Amino acid sequence: MWKGRFKEEQSDLLKSYGESVSIDWQLYPHDIAGSIAHARALKSAGILTGEEFEKIESGLRQILAEIEEGRFEFLMDLEDVHMNIESELTKRIGPAGAKLHTARSRNDQVALDFRLWVREACDSLAQKLQGLQRELVGLAERHRTAIMPGYTHLQRAQPVFFAHHLLAYVEMLDRDAGRLRDAHARMDAMPLGSGAIAGSTILLDREAVAKELGFPRVTTNSMDAVADRDFACEVLAAIAIAGMHLSRLSEDVILWASTEFGFLELSDRHTTGSSLMPQKKNPDIAELARGKTGRLYGNLMTLLTVMKGLPLTYNRDMQEDKEAVFDSVKTLSATLSILAEMFSAASLREARALEAAGDPLLLATDLADRLVEGGVPFRKAHEIVGGLVARARELNTPLDRLDSSEFLKSSPVLTPEIVKSTFQLQSALAARKTIGAPSPENISRELSRWRSLLG
Ligand code: ARG
Repeated sequence: MWKGRFKEEQSDLLKSYGESVSIDWQLYPHDIAGSIAHARALKSAGILTGEEFEKIESGLRQILAEIEEGRFEFLMDLEDVHMNIESELTKRIGPAGAKLHTARSRNDQVALDFRLWVREACDSLAQKLQGLQRELVGLAERHRTAIMPGYTHLQRAQPVFFAHHLLAYVEMLDRDAGRLRDAHARMDAMPLGSGAIAGSTILLDREAVAKELGFPRVTTNSMDAVADRDFACEVLAAIAIAGMHLSRLSEDVILWASTEFGFLELSDRHTTGSSLMPQKKNPDIAELARGKTGRLYGNLMTLLTVMKGLPLTYNRDMQEDKEAVFDSVKTLSATLSILAEMFSAASLREARALEAAGDPLLLATDLADRLVEGGVPFRKAHEIVGGLVARARELNTPLDRLDSSEFLKSSPVLTPEIVKSTFQLQSALAARKTIGAPSPENISRELSRWRSLLG
């Protein structure tokens, strides 16, 4: 492609060190779509005749079909996807092919192809996030009335509905999808026409190219357009955050599936055994999902680090961008699919979760609330109930079984009726009516809201 300037053949080591086609071949549909749109702009500008344009277009479509059928051979010697496709086109159609690269550089070409690829990935990941949300909602619906302890510091804190816990993740995943949609909207500017760095003296209708490729606008600074990879960083960051959420979800699954908790039953299809210990049933999917989050963070760090020292504009370092992004997209996508499948076949051991939630200590705060209703300042109420908890421990009795005299000694507000009604799990949950709290009405409203949002 640049033989005019050079007298010697390139070193083989440089060829294999510098090639990117083994990774970026995946950009082929976007490279071809971009080239067809560019060729059409060249035709409109009078650089290509109608006949030349048609040769280019049909040649490119033929190449596309062959790649899709696995009949196209990408050559490492031709460095990247762009040169592979262009050189094959020229080989096939002759001089018309050699005109295609007019007013274009691989710098704006790769900026375009990669944006198109990442844009599509954002949409498909957002879809897959929805798929997992749907399965979480499904699991919540199958156990609509099940109660479990909610935790802080991994200590039993307050009773919640299992559905409430699952819907917390549904909210997180929704923000994750939102971040990907935001990234899509921000990167949605068409860079072709920026050339290597300073546009071109050959004037092409960039708006028409943008329209053909489905971009709502064109980039407005040619240097920025070829140097920018923050769209990729942003998507890697959104993916890393989604990975963090999935890792926390996995951690909950791993805990719940343990004998100690015993809350969650995973299907045989989604667990593994031990080669040594016959009794084992391991939650490997969740462990792998938690583990793969490491590479999602790593890929983000890779690209941020690649970019941080680069002077404007394009530098070859930037070729490292694709591997990181492809890997993160593939990893998140696979994780979302398998987690969705795993949850579709999972179930809660309701009795076991209820038993754990039945500890009256989980309603100690509710008892303090009753004192507040009787006019006791909350700090004081907290102290009084703390004293009762200590007393129950001393006597080795559950908090709700303390003698009524103990309660009355602490405060006249704590009559036997008040105490009895406070330690009712169902009414304790029913009382949690504030927006966002887990009263049964709130939970069913949230479940139907998500159901109708997610379909
Ligand atoms: N394979 C290159 C990349 O991914 C394409 C752009 C090459 N541009 C250049 N000036 N060498 O970055």
